[in-house]
Amino acid sequence: MHIIKTIKVLYKEIKILKKSNKKIGLVPTMGNLHDGHIKLILLAKKYSDIIIVSIFINPMQFDNLSDLKNYPKTFMKDSIILKKYHVDILFFPHINEIYPNGIEHQTFVEVIKLSKILEGQSRPGHFRGVTTIITKLFNFIQPDFAFFGEKDYQQLLIIKILVKELNYMIKIISLPTIRLKNGLALSSRNNYLSSQENEIAPYLYKIIKKTCEKIIKEDDNIRPKIIHESKILLIKKGFSVDIFDIYDYKNLEHPSKKVKKVILLASVWLGNTRLIDNKKIILNY
Ligand code: PAF
Repeated sequence: MHIIKTIKVLYKEIKILKKSNKKIGLVPTMGNLHDGHIKLILLAKKYSDIIIVSIFINPMQFDNLSDLKNYPKTFMKDSIILKKYHVDILFFPHINEIYPNGIEHQTFVEVIKLSKILEGQSRPGHFRGVTTIITKLFNFIQPDFAFFGEKDYQQLLIIKILVKELNYMIKIISLPTIRLKNGLALSSRNNYLSSQENEIAPYLYKIIKKTCEKIIKEDDNIRPKIIHESKILLIKKGFSVDIFDIYDYKNLEHPSKKVKKVILLASVWLGNTRLIDNKKIILNY
C-alpha cells in the first residue's frame, strides 16, 4: 500500500493510473475504521482496479470544536486494516495540504437545496464542509466510482446532487447500513458510548423498526400519533430526540399523499453522543 500525504504526489500517481486506463474507486473516510468501512472497501473492489482510501478528519464539517478535538485519531490501527484488505493507495494529507489558507475564509461548495434542513439545520455548516472536502477529493483523485454508506442518508443524497450539478463523471455507489447483531448501526461515534449507553443504544433501531411496521399497517392519518408515541418511547429509554420523522425518500420533503417510497430519519442524542439512523419503507396506499 502506497501512503501518499501530498497532493503533488497524488496527482502524479493518478496521472499514471489514468494513462493505463485503470478504474479508480474512492472510499473517503475520516479514519477510525470499522466494519462498515471494510464492507465499503470490499464493495469498491468489485467495481474498480485501484482502491484509494482517504483518511482526513475534516475540520470544516465539524460544527463544534470539542467534537473535532475528541474525534478518535487512529492512524496506525487504520493503516494496518487497510494493508490487510490490500488497499492500493492511502491518501492521508495534512490539514495544510487541504486548506492552505486556513478554513475561515475557505472557498466552499454547497448543495443549496438539502444542506440547510434536518441534520444541516441542527449542525450549521456541516454539509458545506462535507461537500467542500468531497469536491476536493474528486478533483485530486478523479475516481470512476465513489462509495458511501447509507447510514448518513442525507449526506449520500447531497453528494449525489453534487455529482449531478457539478457534472462529475463519477458513479456514486452506496452500501446499506452495517449493524451489530443487536441492531446498532456501526459508527465511529459509537466509541463514545459508556457501557450503560451501549445497552440503551440498540433501542434506537428497535424503535425505528417498530415505528415503520406500524406506519405500513395503519392508515396515514394516524401517522403523526405513531411518530409521537415512538418519540415518547425514545425519551423514556434515555434518548433526547432531535429528528424522528418520515420523509420523501428522493428529496427529504414531507411526503405528499401519493408518495410511496419514504424513509424514517432519526437523529438522537444519548448523553453526549449523537446517533443517527434510518429505515426505508414502501407505503401501500
Ligand atoms: O461520512 C464521513 O465519514 C465524512 O463525512 C466524509 C464523507 C468522509 C467526508 O469527510
